[in-house]
Amino acid sequence: MGELLNINDTHYSKHNRIVIVTNSRISYLCPSMSNNQYKEIKRITTHVLQEMKQRGEKISMLTAYDYTFATILDAALIDVILVGDSASNVMAGNTTTLPITLEQMIYHTASVTRAVDRALVVADIPFGSYQGNSKEALSSSIRLMKEAAAHAVKMEGGLEIIDSVKRVLSAGVPVMGHLGLTPQSIYKFGTFEVRAKDEVEANKLLEDALLLQDAGCFAIVLEKIPATLGERVAKELKIPVIGIGAGSGVDGQVLVLHDLLGLTKEFNPRFLRRYMNLFDDVKTNIEHYIEDVKLVDFPSKKEQY
Ligand code: KIV
Repeated sequence: MGELLNINDTHYSKHNRIVIVTNSRISYLCPSMSNNQYKEIKRITTHVLQEMKQRGEKISMLTAYDYTFATILDAALIDVILVGDSASNVMAGNTTTLPITLEQMIYHTASVTRAVDRALVVADIPFGSYQGNSKEALSSSIRLMKEAAAHAVKMEGGLEIIDSVKRVLSAGVPVMGHLGLTPQSIYKFGTFEVRAKDEVEANKLLEDALLLQDAGCFAIVLEKIPATLGERVAKELKIPVIGIGAGSGVDGQVLVLHDLLGLTKEFNPRFLRRYMNLFDDVKTNIEHYIEDVKLVDFPSKKEQY
């Protein structure tokens, strides 16, 4: 168990963990699975991520958009949960991330933060709620922090959005950057191909990453770029660099949860590792349920009053 000096307060969290509040941090004591001892779980903050980079510990990050999956991710001890605007694709069935609204992101983020005791929850600011207008960026991020209890926000872009990034940071809201393939600009790119393959774009990406770091961002996501560039950026930057299709030389990895679980079928980029094939498993079991209902096998005598 870690140090528990200067305890200011203890209480029970929403998941029955004992919460210890000390001068320096908030910790959770969690009943260990194997015996009845308690082990301390430290809440993940932007500071903790920085420490992880410094000691070379990789950061795990996944998306979640709802309470149930967020509960599972937090119980599994994921470091960061991203309430991504990929909710537009995964939850709402849109072909791009552009249509999702700030109201919808607030709804998804609030559902996730209600579930989480430990992970850092980062919410995407959606397309049209921060670009070209730093005042709007500030008000969007404040809504995500106040109404949805987000711990940090993420914005796509470098130099083009730096005024918005600075203004949000000035209000004390932690900002995660996002460079490389930035899906909110998909109509500018015209394709989902790997970005920054040529030197000009690679240099611009590195400059943008340094700019975001200097502005005060606590981390940066790099999407779909060559692995050599991912490693170069992670080495140059002091803040954590989290990759999705950016190779193994970065400081952590992020995937869309529904892709990892095999709930989605059509999306098959090279960087994706599917750990399950839930689409087929769920479908097979739904078919069993339908058959049981039709044959009046369900409910059985034991399953009724
Ligand atoms: O919206 C999202 O899920 C993302 C990840 C792909 C990084 O931004």
